[in-house]
Amino acid sequence: MKTVLFRKEDIYRGNLILINRDNPIRVEEEIKRNLVPVANSHHLLNREASDKIHQILIKVDLNNEIRPVSCFRSKEEQENLYNQSIRDNGMDFTRKYVARPDTSEHQSGLAIDLGENKPDIDFICPSFPYHGVFNKFRRLAKLNGFIERYKEDKEQITGISKEPWHFRYVGYPHSLIIEEAGLALEEYHDFVRGFDSEENSFLYRDTEYTWSIFYVGLLDDIMYLDIKADYYSISGNNRDGFIITCRK
Ligand code: DAL
Ligand code: ZN
Repeated sequence: MKTVLFRKEDIYRGNLILINRDNPIRVEEEIKRNLVPVANSHHLLNREASDKIHQILIKVDLNNEIRPVSCFRSKEEQENLYNQSIRDNGMDFTRKYVARPDTSEHQSGLAIDLGENKPDIDFICPSFPYHGVFNKFRRLAKLNGFIERYKEDKEQITGISKEPWHFRYVGYPHSLIIEEAGLALEEYHDFVRGFDSEENSFLYRDTEYTWSIFYVGLLDDIMYLDIKADYYSISGNNRDGFIITCRK
């Protein structure tokens, strides 16, 4: 058993942070320190997410049919994209496909837009179809920590239209649970809130391990909690607490 310290500032860090119109990104400087290039490109991503993308592409993209289109974007880049899109495409389109500055997952280094490798790739809406190598990528993505973040029929919840090209790193096994259940990340956060201790945790079994997942709300600036599992990881939820993932 280990006694773990939870601090308020860590709520805004971790693979599972929820970033949307109601939950802006808060720790950009720290994020920038942990960025590395993606698969020999000039695009930057969080180190863990970048490693995973690289591993997936090596396995599925033997003919170089997929390429990164947009990965980490600074606040300034997101601002420029948003304003330029309003000028070029109008407000209706922009609201659907470009997040307001500070509410974009691209500022977290955990999101990647991928496109079919062909001439004239659209920067905001690249083509990433539902067949062949693109679906092979999707199948491996969910086993390696990525979700297809903006699905059809979830627009009311996410505030963003369907984006088949936008993948968000949340870590395994969350990616597989979310994809198998067909949840938006917002819905998954609400679901996990229902499990509020290690004893009352959500249990997920894959072929190798049992995973135990639960939420810890932070009531003070700091808090101590005993965790019994030997292997665990912690992510802030970017709202009011943490999601703990134990491997058994
Ligand atoms: N296209 C996504 C929503 C973004 O701008 O973050
Ligand atoms: Zn994107």
